[in-house]
Amino acid sequence: MAHVLVTGGAGYIGSHACKVLAGAGYVPVTYDSLVTGWRDAVKFGPFEQGDLMDRARLDEVFAAYRPVAVMHFAALSQVGEAMTEPGRYWSNNVTGSLNLIQAAVDAGCSDFVFSSTCATYGEHDNVVLDENTPQLPLNAYGASKRAIEDMLRDFEAAHGLRHVIFRYFNVAGADPEGEVGEFHRPETHLIPLILDAIDGKRDALTIHGTDYDTPDGTCIRDYVHVMDLVDAHVLGLKWLESGKPSRAFNLGTGTGFSVREVLDHAGVVTNRPVPMREGPRRAGDATKLVSGSVRALTELGWRPARSDMASMIADAWRWHQNGAYQS
Ligand SMILES: NC(=O)c1ccc[n+]([C@@H]2O[C@H](COP(=O)([O-])OP(=O)(O)OC[C@H]3O[C@@H](n4cnc5c(N)ncnc54)[C@H](O)[C@@H]3O)[C@@H](O)[C@H]2O)c1
Repeated sequence: MAHVLVTGGAGYIGSHACKVLAGAGYVPVTYDSLVTGWRDAVKFGPFEQGDLMDRARLDEVFAAYRPVAVMHFAALSQVGEAMTEPGRYWSNNVTGSLNLIQAAVDAGCSDFVFSSTCATYGEHDNVVLDENTPQLPLNAYGASKRAIEDMLRDFEAAHGLRHVIFRYFNVAGADPEGEVGEFHRPETHLIPLILDAIDGKRDALTIHGTDYDTPDGTCIRDYVHVMDLVDAHVLGLKWLESGKPSRAFNLGTGTGFSVREVLDHAGVVTNRPVPMREGPRRAGDATKLVSGSVRALTELGWRPARSDMASMIADAWRWHQNGAYQS
């Protein structure tokens, strides 16, 4: 069976990707330093502990498995941290990806699927973001991802590295079968934070800014279910396998939810009150990020099936109550 090297396979999205890859007949090989990931999340293929900064270790793993493709999820991805420690983002994400891309090229592995982000677009007033929207990131996290996109284009021109770039909007939910789920420490994502507040694992959910230019004053985001998102990655892999050209795709639903709307849905799905408080804006946050996702639907044939807000919260809630990683 064909091996796929999954960097960040011990993290939230990478672990779900390993599950669908295994289901699609590939052997997912997780390459992860565990800087934010979990050994317990690696369940569907071999685990190779290593850092993107360690070129010799990358070469060793490419030689051992001879993967047909790379899925590159490994990154630091907290916007707040990127504002205060930009050097870590440029180093880990950009230099780390350069090592990985160079190692892939040197090993003759020429299909590459990359986790990018809507944070590469930055702030565009009242615009639905499509793949041609100018990428003007507001923070070092988005800037690091845009730089990696540029790197992929240069490596394709020089070395034939074919790639699919996925620009995710907000990823939410968990494996409905409960084998893997979202477990970030510290947690910074809205839905798990809300669920923590609901069952008393934290005091209250802080809304960061209530004076944005939106109908209820809170930021608007587009949410996509993690299972739908990783299904798109398998389609991306098949796209490259069938010889189609390198391409960037947004992955979102095109529907925006404000923070208050997500809170309301969480209260309904869990049938519990949501403790909350209002706080100031957070540096680096855009007012509204909503996808124009037509390209993934029409070209890849992507059909998100669970990305309605009720399913995302219900799946996250089930995982939240029953699942956790110890190490
Ligand atoms: N979660 C979201 O809503 C979202 C949105 C847009 C983009 N993304 C992108 O998706 C990818 C996965 O995000 P996630 O939420 O699963 O994050 P995560 O923190 O759960 O997973 C990232 C994994 O990468 C590993 N890692 C980080 N740096 C590494 C290094 N130098 N060497 C080896 N391993 C390293 C971590 O240990 C972790 O297991 C990231 O690239 C992120 O930027 C996520």
